[in-house]
Amino acid sequence: MRTQVGIIGAGPAGLLLSHLLARSGIDSVVVEIRSRAYCEARQRAGVLEAGSVAVLRAAGLSDRLDREGLEHGGIYLQFDGERHHVDFRDLTGRTVTVYAQTEVVKDLIAARVAAREPIEFDVSDAEVSDLESTRPVLRYIGADGERKELVCDAIAGCDGFHGICRPAIPTGLCTVHESGYPYAWLGILADVPPSTDELIYCHHGNGFALHSMRTPQISRLYLQVAPDEDIAAWPDDRIWGELRRRFGIPGWELKEGPVLEKSITPMRSFVSAPMRYGRLFLAGDAAHIVPPTGAKGLNLALSDVTVLAQALTSLLRGGREELADAYSATCLKRVWRATHFSWWMTTMLHATPGAGAMEAQLQLSQLRYVTSSRAAATTLAENYTGYPPLPP
Ligand code: FAD
Ligand code: PHB
Repeated sequence: MRTQVGIIGAGPAGLLLSHLLARSGIDSVVVEIRSRAYCEARQRAGVLEAGSVAVLRAAGLSDRLDREGLEHGGIYLQFDGERHHVDFRDLTGRTVTVYAQTEVVKDLIAARVAAREPIEFDVSDAEVSDLESTRPVLRYIGADGERKELVCDAIAGCDGFHGICRPAIPTGLCTVHESGYPYAWLGILADVPPSTDELIYCHHGNGFALHSMRTPQISRLYLQVAPDEDIAAWPDDRIWGELRRRFGIPGWELKEGPVLEKSITPMRSFVSAPMRYGRLFLAGDAAHIVPPTGAKGLNLALSDVTVLAQALTSLLRGGREELADAYSATCLKRVWRATHFSWWMTTMLHATPGAGAMEAQLQLSQLRYVTSSRAAATTLAENYTGYPPLPP
């Protein structure tokens, strides 16, 4: 079989890329190891930068996002028992939109299926070869058990952190930068209206907590826990008790409800560069991971493929190599900014086990600065709401 771009992975990166390419008249095949239902239910990120919303809108993929997305003009930073508002609208003129990654994925899959463009779920044994040639090959076993071979002009590795594409780059040709954090997030989805109008990022002696939301009826909450924490040690009562303790301030009450889902996510910073090897282009989590405290992972995945779609269009329709050659460097500038911002938010807000009073005092000093200096608050607001908006 023949296609122009073989796309591995039906996460936000692979799906958006398939749509942007189709709009430029380039055909692609998306192959995904999981089922459609699994991809649509996987709980992950929840905040879209204004630039991400603009890209989805320009691609005609924002009908439901425009109806149901919750526009937020800031966040709360809570520390020392007080809650402070950081006003993005005032500081930057920009906002963010709360719209779950599950919903982005559902919308993008539905549009792909409605357009009758190829997307295959439940594939196995995907592998790539001939990456140095102009006819790279993607082989996999389809859901029907049949072996398939797709001869492509380019392959997009959008297969996440545990995918097969990054390891297909010969070792020695890429540099990996990595650091872990001595904590993880226990996240719950709860059937209860949010107790706040905007997200609360909370510094506390017991550890960080985050109050986010999915819809006006569904809350999403996180607690910092140990990286090797056993989820069985956290029955719902204990989770709500700890959330009440960390978020508690006079005159405010945390609404509680049935827990619909709970899981523990490890945290790491990871960048593999370059994001290209021959005709293989990596995008999203396949090339980089940030800790979720800056709400950047999903946004980086969407911005990578926006750049990639233009590069592949120019390469495959115009025979011009410049944008493809610049792809990795262009993306890595934004990736490193987001990696720094995510590290900064994470280390400012989490309690490092054993670090003691010195760390806590430095964090509190930084938090007081961010909430009292317009310059410092603008730094946070600029980074959180996004970097120069992407071209549509
Ligand atoms: P993914 O969404 O990981 O998509 C990759 C796809 O490739 C998957 O569907 C996978 O099944 C598929 N795949 C993998 N291997 C193969 C293969 N061999 N063959 C075919 N298909 C394959 N970000 C935030 O901003 N906030 C959060 O709260 C947050 N929470 C997260 C929680 C978890 C558990 C994880 C893993 C990530 C979280 N992130 C969060 C990050 C954010 O969700 C990711 O950055 C985003 O999903 C990246 O999109 P992607 O398309 O690059 O990768
Ligand atoms: C979420 O809603 O899941 C979410 C929001 C903001 C973050 C991380 C996760 O920084």
